[in-house]
Amino acid sequence: MYLVFLGAPGAGKGTQAADVAHKLNMVHISSGDLFRDALGKGTELGKKAKSYMERGELVPDEVTTQMVLERLAAPDCARGVILDGFPRNLTQAQALDKALKREKKTVDKVILLEVSGEELIKRLSGRRICRNCQAVYHIMNSPPKVAGKCDKCGGELYQRPDDNVETIKNRREVYSVQTAPLIDYYRKPGKLAEVRGEGGVDVVSGKIIEVLRQDR
Ligand code: AP5
Repeated sequence: MYLVFLGAPGAGKGTQAADVAHKLNMVHISSGDLFRDALGKGTELGKKAKSYMERGELVPDEVTTQMVLERLAAPDCARGVILDGFPRNLTQAQALDKALKREKKTVDKVILLEVSGEELIKRLSGRRICRNCQAVYHIMNSPPKVAGKCDKCGGELYQRPDDNVETIKNRREVYSVQTAPLIDYYRKPGKLAEVRGEGGVDVVSGKIIEVLRQDR
């Protein structure tokens, strides 16, 4: 099964993709995490992505698509994949369709997470990420047991540099102009399911899993 999680910055794509992938024994692929990992390691890919990420702009399609398709080709992906943050525009969506078609596969379902603008700002401004394993926390909604330390690996928690007011504004603009057209792209063939992303993490993941069950 190939799933895509769509939604505005802060809608909970990463949180839900990790949770649902864990519950359904699938692989979670986050393009943002792949870039942040490359950035942390100082690789060529990280250097290419850095300035775009800092401004909240999309990293060029050829760089992003190659990175994600390479990850998708890994053997562990045979058990099913949740894509979070990719595709981000029509060019990326078409490249994904083409690559999957070559393997006689397709995007099975797209989950659109819907959250109010006010809640998105609260979520992004309180988010903390583990520098080591990229686990996601929120200072109010899901704080770590020990302040500043990851529950899972003990790594240091940090605030993403693109979670500042100016960059959030630009990321939301980029989402509206470049990513939102994917809603219709996936709605037309009947692949889109809209899920209200507010409520506890388990409540939202329960709704997503229910949608997937009904679809089978
Ligand atoms: P990316 O990392 O993909 O960022 P994004 O799309 O802006 O999404 P976020 O990660 O900000 O939010 P999310 O929806 O995953 O929310 P989360 O689960 O963390 O991309 C970053 C950058 O990389 C881009 O700007 C671009 O430069 C580049 N990039 C990435 N992919 C690209 C692509 N395909 N093409 C080109 N460039 C690309 O949750 C947010 C907070 O809310 C957390 O604190 C969480 O704990 C909390 N929370 C989550 N769910 C709940 C809940 N139910 N209740 C209460 N709090 C909750």
